[in-house]
This record gives sequence, C-alpha cells and structure tokens, in this order.
Amino acid sequence: MEKLVFATNNRHKLEEVSAMTGGTVKIVSLAEIGCHDDIPETADTFQGNALQKAAYVYEHFGLPCFADDSGLEVDCLEGIPGVLSARYAGEHGNSEANIAKLLDAMKGSENRKADFKTVVALILPDGKTEFFEGRVDGVITMEKRGEGGFGYDPIFIPDGYDKTFAELGENIKNKISHRAKAIAALCEYLKRLPK
Ligand code: IMP
Repeated sequence: MEKLVFATNNRHKLEEVSAMTGGTVKIVSLAEIGCHDDIPETADTFQGNALQKAAYVYEHFGLPCFADDSGLEVDCLEGIPGVLSARYAGEHGNSEANIAKLLDAMKGSENRKADFKTVVALILPDGKTEFFEGRVDGVITMEKRGEGGFGYDPIFIPDGYDKTFAELGENIKNKISHRAKAIAALCEYLKRLPK
C-alpha cells in the first residue's frame, strides 16, 4: 500500500498519525486527494460513523482509508452525549454550551464516572475492514478547570490523575488519551502489514 487516506483535514491529527506510523505508509488528507465533500456522519455509534466516513472515501475515490470518531460517554446519563458530543447543546462545536448542558444534566448526581472513546475504521485496498478502539476512564468535575485542550477537556479528570485534561496539557494527554490509544493500535497493525 503506497498511500493511505486519513478522512480528516485536521492538521494536528494528521501529523500525530504520520509521526506514529514511522513512515511505513504515506498518510494523506482529504484535501490532498481533492475531496472537499461534506461527508455524512449519521450513524448512532462511533463505529458506524467511523465506518461511514472511511467507506465514503473508499467508494468515491477508490483509495484505502481510515477515519475516526470520538466522544464522551457519561455513566449516569447512560452513555450520553456519545455520538452527539460535538453538538450536545444544539450548535456543532459550541463547547461552552455543551459543557454547561452536561453539568446541568448531572446536577445532584454523585456518580461522576465517564469515559472518552475513539473508534478508528480502516478499509484496506481489497475492501477488508478493521476497527481499533481506544478508551480512557475518568470522572466529570463539578465545574470547569483549566484553559488548555478543547471540547470537554476542562471537566474531565482521567483516572490516576487529579487534574483535568485541560490542566494536564497536551504532552500528557497525548500519551494517555482515547485517541492516542486507538491510533497506536492502528499504527501497530499498519506496521505489521506485508509490504
Ligand atoms: P471527534 O469525533 O474527534 O471530532 O470528536 C467529537 C466530539 O467529541 C468533539 O467535538 C468533542 O466535543 C468530543 N471530544 C472528542 N475527543 C475529545 C477530547 O479529547 N477532549 C474533549 N472533547 C473531546
């Protein structure tokens, strides 16, 4: 396999994955293959959404591809916001509103357990599909703490730490996060593929 599409245009994610594969395969973005489509993400599971995105590229561009989908699952809310994480309060990517809604929904709950999950779907040149999952368990704080990160980082404390992802900073987060674990599993698999 000469090149592998990562169904994203997020520079940060691309660089992280390219560094982790150690040059075994050339990872290219959607923009680099001329895909500027708004790829649908309408499934109700992380696995379904990741596969939907990877399959779109495979079917429309005939290239091997992988895609990721992530979110926060809160125990006392039975896994919500889950696949709705980015648009929990209505507007896509409005983290302030999403956090406010979540803290409100958890008001009075002593069970603060939650996890972040990432699923990566990979479609190989012959159409074979593989999934890789990464998960980090933790608790939701009572209020926001820390300035770094994005999304729900200011209210999530990973198990074994006493700071939120936003306080811990990128270096630590990138070693222990759901996304890092899923991508590491993908990279291990890619390294073992026959040349
Ligand atoms: P995506 O699938 O990686 O785009 O993640 C979807 C949504 O889940 C994001 O918009 C965030 O709201 C939330 N999310 C996923 N990963 C993280 C994380 O590492 N920190 C905080 N929020 C996250």
